[in-house]
Amino acid sequence: MEVTVESHPNIALVKYWGKADAATNTPINGSVSIGMQNVKTTTNVHLEPAAAPSIEMELNGMPVTPSQRVQNMIDYLISLSPPAAELLSTHSLKITSSNSFPTGAGMASSASGMAALAVALKTLLAPTLSNQTTATLARLGSGSACRSIHPGFVRWDAENGIVTQVATDKHWPELRLLAVVCCAEKKAVGSTEGMLRSAATCPFMDRRAEVASARLEDVESAIISKDFPKLAEEVMRDSNDLHAVCLSSYPPIVYLSASSLAVINTVHALNSSHNSPIAAYTFDAGPNAMILTTAAYCKQVKWALSELKLAGSVKDIIDIGVGGGTVVQPMK
Ligand code: DP6
Repeated sequence: MEVTVESHPNIALVKYWGKADAATNTPINGSVSIGMQNVKTTTNVHLEPAAAPSIEMELNGMPVTPSQRVQNMIDYLISLSPPAAELLSTHSLKITSSNSFPTGAGMASSASGMAALAVALKTLLAPTLSNQTTATLARLGSGSACRSIHPGFVRWDAENGIVTQVATDKHWPELRLLAVVCCAEKKAVGSTEGMLRSAATCPFMDRRAEVASARLEDVESAIISKDFPKLAEEVMRDSNDLHAVCLSSYPPIVYLSASSLAVINTVHALNSSHNSPIAAYTFDAGPNAMILTTAAYCKQVKWALSELKLAGSVKDIIDIGVGGGTVVQPMK
C-alpha cells in the first residue's frame, strides 16, 4: 500500500519566531502565510508487511536517517489512532521525498516536506483524522509546516494551535509573488537553533511577540479587504522586526546579506517614487527575498530588481505564484 502527496512551501507574512514549547513547536505568537505555487515537495510513503518493522527514508535520492521529529510524528499518530498503531507494529514504512525547487533557489523545504509527510501518513494510516489534527501532526515535524496544509492565506494561532484558511488562493488574483535568489548556500544557523538563541539572549523577545500578535489582525484584514499598501507595510515591518531580533540575539544571527540589503533598498526606492507601496519584501531565516506585488506593477518591480541582477548582486528572479497547500494523488 502506498500514497503520494504533493505539498507546497509557504512564506510567512507575519512570522513565527520563538517557541513557548520546543517539544511540540508551540509558537509564542500567531503567524499568517501565503502558499507558493511553482515550487513543491513530492513525498511517497510505502507500507509493507514486515516481521521486524522499520522506517527508511530517502531525500532527493539519498538515504537519510529519519530524524527525531519524524519519529515524534509517528509516535503522535500511534497515540491518536489504534488502527495506525496496529499497522505500524506489523509493517515497515519507506518514505521517499524530493523537492522540485528551481535549481539553486535555496528555498526552505521543511514546511512542504513535513506537510506532505503528515498528509501521506494520515491518508495511509489514519484517514479519519481531521484537517486540524493533520496540521498538528505536520507542526511536530516543523512549526511552519502546519500552514502548508491549506492553500492560499493561512493563519496559525498561538493560543490553541488552530490553523485556519483566511482566504483561498483565488481570493486575490492580482497579487504576484516573486523570489529573489541572493544566495543558494545552506544557512549558517537553522531556524530551530536561531529561535532558541533569540529566546535565550534577545532582550526584545517579549515585545516581538506582542507586536507580531497585534500585527496579525492588521495583516488578516488587509488580506480580506485586498488592501495592498497596508499589507505591504506590515509585511516589510514584520520581516525587519524579525531580523532585528536576530541581530539582537547573542552571538548575533545574521541572515541578511549585502544582496538582501540591496533588495530592501531597491524596494523602498521604488515605493517612495509612488504615492503608496507597490512592492514588499519579506525574508525568512536566510538571505533570499520573497517579493509581493500586484499585476499592475509586476513588470516595473521585476525591471528594478533585474538591475540588481545585471549588477551581479542578485542571482535570479523567479515567478513563484500564489497557491500552495497539499494534494493527495490517487492511491495505489
Ligand atoms: C523564519 O518552522 O522552520 O521561516 O518549528 O523549528 O522547524 P521549526 O522552525 P521553522 O521556522 C520557520 C521560521 C521562519 C518564519 C515562519 O515561517 O513563520
